[in-house]
Amino acid sequence: MEPPSAPAHRQHVPWHRLLLAVSLLSFWNLPTAAQIIIESVSFNTTEGRDALLLVHNATENILGYSWYKGERIENNQLIISFRVDNQVNITGPAHSSREIIYPNGTLLLQNATQNDTGYYTLLVTKNDLQRESATVQLLVYPPVTKPIIEANSTTVTELKDTAVLKCLTNDTDVSTRWLFNGQSLLLTERKTLSQDNRTLTIEPVRREDAGDYQCEVSNPGNSSLSDPLRLDVKCKRPLTCGLMLYLPGGFHYP
Ligand SMILES: *[C@@H]1O[C@H](CO)[C@@H](O)[C@H](O)[C@H]1NC(C)=O
Ligand SMILES: *[C@@H]1O[C@H](CO)[C@@H](O)[C@H](O)[C@H]1NC(C)=O
Ligand SMILES: *[C@@H]1O[C@H](CO)[C@@H](O)[C@H](O)[C@H]1NC(C)=O
Ligand SMILES: *[C@@H]1O[C@H](CO)[C@@H](O)[C@H](O)[C@H]1NC(C)=O
Ligand SMILES: *[C@@H]1O[C@H](CO)[C@@H](O)[C@H](O)[C@H]1NC(C)=O
Ligand SMILES: *[C@@H]1O[C@H](CO)[C@@H](O)[C@H](O)[C@H]1NC(C)=O
Ligand SMILES: *[C@@H]1O[C@H](CO)[C@@H](O)[C@H](O)[C@H]1NC(C)=O
Ligand SMILES: *[C@@H]1O[C@H](CO)[C@@H](O)[C@H](O)[C@H]1NC(C)=O
Ligand SMILES: *[C@@H]1O[C@H](CO)[C@@H](O)[C@H](O)[C@H]1NC(C)=O
Ligand SMILES: *[C@@H]1O[C@H](CO)[C@@H](O)[C@H](O)[C@H]1NC(C)=O
Repeated sequence: MEPPSAPAHRQHVPWHRLLLAVSLLSFWNLPTAAQIIIESVSFNTTEGRDALLLVHNATENILGYSWYKGERIENNQLIISFRVDNQVNITGPAHSSREIIYPNGTLLLQNATQNDTGYYTLLVTKNDLQRESATVQLLVYPPVTKPIIEANSTTVTELKDTAVLKCLTNDTDVSTRWLFNGQSLLLTERKTLSQDNRTLTIEPVRREDAGDYQCEVSNPGNSSLSDPLRLDVKCKRPLTCGLMLYLPGGFHYP
């Protein structure tokens, strides 16, 4: 028996509505549990290198995969399709003989060219003939050439000289970072970069700045590191060279 305080309308909610709500919930939950996901929405590679469009969560109940060039599923844009049951692949009109499909759906594109830049769509057909698709973008960047470091002087005097190091590159649309003795260079009050990060100024130079400097230029598809440039730092007063004074707070150079 219902307690008298229970709202009267509760008894009138039709069962089929509740069942519909439950089945909608499980409908929305199911695809996420078994969803095919492509590793990333964008892939970056370098001209002349390979690109792997990685597919995850391929399960056993998949009938096949098809990759299309572009954002739409159009037969004339089919690159390749693969049937899981008989392991047979079929190439389409958009196949350039450089694409290989793996049994897990991943597409390997060999020797990428700028022309391969664009969208790629994967269509997954399941055993129950349900289909799922996902579109990813491939960006093919030009290779980056090795930069060169140039300094106005590689032997500088501590506390007197300013060292100016330039990272020379002919590549456009590249970003630059600096390394000191193989580690990311830490900028300080004395070590500053130009707005484009291509010029490093150390003012004034100190003994601890002696070491190997490198610059790395990169785009999202490729990067290249310069040969190291060795910066030597001479002592201001050769007589006290190598001496360190112990003052409260640690060692100090005279
Ligand atoms: C994909 O599979 C991994 C394990 O292989 C799992 O942790 C993850 O939740 C799955 N993702 C989706 C969206 O199904
Ligand atoms: C590819 O490069 C773009 C910038 O052009 C960046 O936004 C994206 O995160 C990169 N993708 C990967 C997977 O690194
Ligand atoms: C799919 O297979 C290829 C080739 O065997 C492999 O390189 C790739 O890592 C696989 N993908 C995943 C998500 O494991
Ligand atoms: C098609 O399948 C055959 C046999 O499994 C394999 O050797 C070949 O590399 C595949 N071709 C492509 C383009 O994926
Ligand atoms: C890669 O493609 C370029 C032209 O796009 C061609 O000259 C070169 O021989 C190809 N390399 C390989 C390994 O297929
Ligand atoms: C890129 O596409 C253009 C126009 O379709 C073509 O002329 C050119 O040869 C292609 N380049 C490569 C490397 O495939
Ligand atoms: C390097 O050039 C900067 C200005 O361009 C100058 O201030 C500095 O003294 C120069 N350093 C040496 C060691 O010549
Ligand atoms: C830039 O190009 C010029 C002319 O081709 C060449 O002399 C120079 O070495 C190049 N610089 C770098 C950093 O590659
Ligand atoms: C310079 O480098 C800093 C990080 O050190 C970065 O945030 C900034 O975007 C870079 N600027 C350019 C123009 O590359
Ligand atoms: C940059 O591209 C060159 C030429 O394709 C390649 O040899 C090198 O491994 C690439 N470097 C990185 C960090 O991707």
